[in-house]
Amino acid sequence: MELSFENIHYAYSDRGAEALSDLSLVLHSAERVALIGRNGCGKSTLMLHANGILRPRSGRVLLNGKTLDYSRRALTELRRQVGLVFQNPEDQLFSANVFQDISLGPLNLGLSQAEARRRVEEVAALCDLEKLLERPTHALSGGEKTRAALAGVLAMEPQFLFADELTNSLDPWMRRQVLDILNAWVERGRTVVLSTHDWALARTWAQRIVWLECGRVYRQGPAQQVLTDQDLT
Ligand SMILES: Nc1ncnc2c1ncn2[C@@H]1O[C@H](COP(=O)(O)OP(=O)(O)OP(=O)(O)O)[C@@H](O)[C@H]1O
Ligand SMILES: [Mg+2]
Repeated sequence: MELSFENIHYAYSDRGAEALSDLSLVLHSAERVALIGRNGCGKSTLMLHANGILRPRSGRVLLNGKTLDYSRRALTELRRQVGLVFQNPEDQLFSANVFQDISLGPLNLGLSQAEARRRVEEVAALCDLEKLLERPTHALSGGEKTRAALAGVLAMEPQFLFADELTNSLDPWMRRQVLDILNAWVERGRTVVLSTHDWALARTWAQRIVWLECGRVYRQGPAQQVLTDQDLT
């Protein structure tokens, strides 16, 4: 499996500056990738391109070598393979309760009620949500919302999981738990791309760090190559 971005240019408005400016990146199976870079460097914009919510002004997104043409069919296929947990979980939770919210993705993929239920139960166990399935989504704590949003995406069993600052607002215990979930996912041969401002986390967790500056890849590679001692002081 391979997801590639080739010379992507994107601007939110015609007169505005480019949020992505000639960005190229290739992602492979079973990788732990940390996406770092200062506020506004384009991390979230890149993630919104990964599952086709945003369409580049020029350049291409390719899944397994096939250029995404943004037809309905191609987008459905892409979203089967590429999941995105938004920076703000509030943007992700729509349904009355947690069970309904997690089952939404599998049902949208056309799975049966029984299969959707099986997937909800599986990811609820993984994300420690079993006791919260009947809870209204608005009545969850911040950390619970984050886990519910993550579970909703995992239930679609994406090959590539993009998690936008997922661990940001979590306490150290919950952070460990969420990282364990992401690691379990990678062990299944899936790829996780986690954006973060926490360089220590990026350094210890990721196999590859991708550092964006001004809408393009500034440096990438194994942590020890990308983050020099000078960067860390
Ligand atoms: N909806 C939008 N409308 C207009 N401009 C936007 C919008 N979203 C982002 N931008 C601009 O695009 C650029 C990239 O933003 P983006 O949100 O991708 O950065 P980021 O790396 O995710 O930042 P942060 O670390 O703060 O989350 C910024 O200059 C930002 O102001
Ligand atoms: Mg962002």
